[in-house]
Amino acid sequence: MSGQTWDAQRYAENGRFVADLAMEVVGLLAPKSGERILDLGCGDGALTDRMKESGAEMIGCDRSPQMLAAAEARGVRTVQADMTALPFAGEFDAVFSNAALHWTRSQREVLAGVFRALRPDGRFVAEMGGLGNIAAIRTALQAVLRPYGVDAEEHAASFFPSKDEYTALLEGAGFRVDRMALIPRPTRLPGGMEDWLRTFRNGVLQDLPDDARETVVREVVALLRPVLCDSAGVWWADYVRLRFKAVRG
Ligand code: BEZ
Repeated sequence: MSGQTWDAQRYAENGRFVADLAMEVVGLLAPKSGERILDLGCGDGALTDRMKESGAEMIGCDRSPQMLAAAEARGVRTVQADMTALPFAGEFDAVFSNAALHWTRSQREVLAGVFRALRPDGRFVAEMGGLGNIAAIRTALQAVLRPYGVDAEEHAASFFPSKDEYTALLEGAGFRVDRMALIPRPTRLPGGMEDWLRTFRNGVLQDLPDDARETVVREVVALLRPVLCDSAGVWWADYVRLRFKAVRG
């Protein structure tokens, strides 16, 4: 994975929409009272906390200590773990994940850990970036960072699969796939593109010298303005979601 680090305050200002837009995948999960559910990549726990209203016992899991501290401050029970090395065995009725799975290319390790964590017939319900996700933003970063000797795609090390690709991965891990959809979802950015870049691409930006960082941000924003900023000055990210439900066989 990239050297991405998470600043809970910056995320609260610029990333709240991630939890706010998750109601459809939460609906697909349909958490029930008495169930024990793992929220994989829970971040600051805003969504985990909301799902507690269902009466399910929610456990948040993330590898970022900063984000886990923010989740704990909301009263969310947490476990620190890397999603490629989950420490659970047969203890969850469901594993849920929103906007986290795409942060690693080690998907076989993730899926093996999720499979192990579930009880027989347990469900895995998730939404992640899918094929074509933030294509314009990624292309602009590639173009602007190349003269600095940086391959933005390699640096980000993200994984945005097609439906077929992820179905094969889930089936290969022993899951039965019940639902799989690829959904374009242009997403309004509360703080504009500059704040998005500083929140979600800080891994690549922080490796640059200060003056280069400011130039890169300015050039990426200028390249994207004609395609992702509307005539009212509102910025939209070209998100594409892969949403699925799979059952442990
Ligand atoms: C996403 O949710 O698709 C995403 C967010 C930040 C960076 C990359 C992808």
